[in-house]
Amino acid sequence: MDVIRIEGGHRVEGTVTVEGAKNSALKLMAATILAPGINTLTNVPNIADVHVMGKVLTRLGARIEVIDEHTLRIDTSTVDSWVTPYELVAQMRASTAVLGPLLARFGKATVAMPGGCNIGARKIDMHILGLQALGVEFDLDHGDINATAPQGLHGTTVALDFASVGATENLVMASVHANGLTVIENAAREPEIVDLANMLNEMGAKVRGAGSPIIEIEGVSELRPVTHRVVGDRIEAGTFVATAGLVGYPIEVLGFDPAHLGLVLRKYEQMGITIERKERGVLAWREKPIASVDIQTLPFPGFPTDMQAQTMCLLALGTKSCVVTENVFENRFMFASEIQRMGADIRIEGHHAIVHGVGGFSGAQVKSPDLRGGAALVMAGLVADGVTTVSDIYHIDRGYERFVEKLQSLGAHVQRVTLPSK
Ligand code: EPZ
Repeated sequence: MDVIRIEGGHRVEGTVTVEGAKNSALKLMAATILAPGINTLTNVPNIADVHVMGKVLTRLGARIEVIDEHTLRIDTSTVDSWVTPYELVAQMRASTAVLGPLLARFGKATVAMPGGCNIGARKIDMHILGLQALGVEFDLDHGDINATAPQGLHGTTVALDFASVGATENLVMASVHANGLTVIENAAREPEIVDLANMLNEMGAKVRGAGSPIIEIEGVSELRPVTHRVVGDRIEAGTFVATAGLVGYPIEVLGFDPAHLGLVLRKYEQMGITIERKERGVLAWREKPIASVDIQTLPFPGFPTDMQAQTMCLLALGTKSCVVTENVFENRFMFASEIQRMGADIRIEGHHAIVHGVGGFSGAQVKSPDLRGGAALVMAGLVADGVTTVSDIYHIDRGYERFVEKLQSLGAHVQRVTLPSK
């Protein structure tokens, strides 16, 4: 079993460049199904979830060539199946992102119903309702979703109850060949949605309004393969900016657009972190005590839920008390429970976490609850008194490429250690 072992109290500073966004790359890979031929994606993060999506596409018949660590050449002209089995969806629920493209290309798809995960039920009812409005019929058979469009897909207006990222993406991808105009109201506005729309338009689609709450898609007859660069990962970047805020020393974080972290950077400035915005990133450091501020997670441009754990790590060392409210997922406070083992003083009340700042963390054995909580626990280890070991780090490997090496390059005393299995 691999663990990450951190020795706290060392100077951590320097420059780090983040990879392409996990939460864009996975959907861009799925979208290559829409453009039969050789698509090339660059700036693709070399992470476990990308490998799983590669397996999904290969299972559908695509041919994937890894040109270099961050460039994939995906030939989808050979895609001849529309079935995505349970063992792949169970590994990664983002596999459901092939639903829209398969329906657009073949008029049918069989995708295993995703189970819940440890941050919530992760239902796809909004995906299904929206696709039904486009003319898709569903039946659930022994855990598999069988989707068909007997009369093809036709444009319509779909209003989402919640600005769901995944539902917005599946509806945009499903409607690129639909008959007529599709309008998505209350669409998610995340930068990863804009990245997907940009690539679809490069392929010849007609997607307007991505990044706003109203997205319009005019059906076209065919899309052609392209080369596209994945947008920089704002959440990986935010994790390193939070690290700078935690350790206090200057860390330059490059490879992303600071505008994609607007509210996070403004909140961090309110917390006493200095942020110098640059063309391709930011320089961040802290000279003052961490000021306690309240945080509410919301869909973009609100405060991203994927930055909640990393930010709570900072607030746990704040000068006063504050409230962190999680409005996106129903169970995303496991990090808060785990960090208590290191001395944090946090009380969970429903979807609020009341955080009382303490003077410091003490190193301990902790378990990564999910991708972002795991990264936040490693962060906490950097400033804890003594040694921290984080287990279940497969969560971290899903979304952070070379996380340990990047921290080592900043001077952190961090190692990945393989413990003898008991
Ligand atoms: C994407 O998940 C991201 N994952 C998540 O990142 C991110 O936290 C989330 O968007 C919100 O920004 C990927 O892009 C692969 P949602 P997604 O649909 O699409 C509920 C990470 O750490 N919901 O916006 O699943 C859902 O249960 C991961 O990188 C329904 O109820 O997010 C959740 O509570 C974690 N029915 C909320 O809406 C639906 O049909 C937001 O989900 C769809 C969603």
